[in-house]
Amino acid sequence: HHCILVGAPVDSGQSNPGCLMGPASYRVAGLAETLTDLGCTVDDRGDVAPRAPAPVSSRNPAVHHLPETVEWTKALASAGEAAMAAGFPIFLGGDHSLSLGSVAGVAAHARQQQRPLFVLWLDAHSDFHTPMTTSSGNLHGTPMAYIAGLGEFEAFPPFPDPVPTDRICLFGIRSVDTDERKALHAHGITPVDMRELDERGFVAPLCGFLDQVRAANGLLHVSLDVDFLDPSIAPAVGTTVPGGATFREAHLVMEMLHESQLVSSLDLVELNPFLDERGRTAQLMVDLTASLMGRKVFDRVNRTN
Ligand code: ARG
Ligand code: MN
Ligand code: MN
Ligand code: MN
Repeated sequence: HHCILVGAPVDSGQSNPGCLMGPASYRVAGLAETLTDLGCTVDDRGDVAPRAPAPVSSRNPAVHHLPETVEWTKALASAGEAAMAAGFPIFLGGDHSLSLGSVAGVAAHARQQQRPLFVLWLDAHSDFHTPMTTSSGNLHGTPMAYIAGLGEFEAFPPFPDPVPTDRICLFGIRSVDTDERKALHAHGITPVDMRELDERGFVAPLCGFLDQVRAANGLLHVSLDVDFLDPSIAPAVGTTVPGGATFREAHLVMEMLHESQLVSSLDLVELNPFLDERGRTAQLMVDLTASLMGRKVFDRVNRTN
């Protein structure tokens, strides 16, 4: 793979400062070197710089940092589209509002290539609010609805090519607000929540989704939120939710994704290095990325696909 690192030090999508240090933390943890060791070539394009925000306000008074987040969305959409044309983009967050832009860029590229885009959302949260329904006002809780083209997004540019709900897989979900639950239900989305993963395990639900992507010859964007992981192994995140993926479950997901050969872009989001313990969360995210890009203990006949 030719990996394009796109630094996205976005901190405007929530209210717990620190995510802006994420890209630096991944670089210190050796992401580029790790990818190189796996045989990838790496082009680190540095951090994206958004333009100065225009003074726009939301009709929902709870929403904060709308102008900054809109500018990040535009800047990341164009950086993302360019990176897709050049290789395999890895967006180094930054809070999850960066996916408003990263996935917009990926979707614009997919449309151009006439390939259907699929999205795998590895997260404790469904992030299915709109600026109208959020009560925290934290825009990192909205990208999934934006990507699906649902709800009103005010000053944001219209999403290039909304991803149909049957091409979206919300995976690992265990914290959903009332309005999100209503919207998910109204649009026929059933997340693969922790209840389902406890019962069926991680392999069957993930394989089912990957089979769909393969059958459609689709592109697959993976958005990995640190809080997908259990807080005991990944403390560096503002929105910890107990009962997350274990070390072994998370690596298994990444290894299966590698073996599928379907993934075409990746977000690493919500790392807050200010909350980390001796860099362990940054290191884990780098190691998970390594598994996704092909690190394994032994080569073996593919068991899962
Ligand atoms: N649903 C909550 C909210 O809207 C939490 C969102 C957390 N999202 C995230 N990307 N960590 O405030
Ligand atoms: Mn999230
Ligand atoms: Mn989350
Ligand atoms: Mn590979």
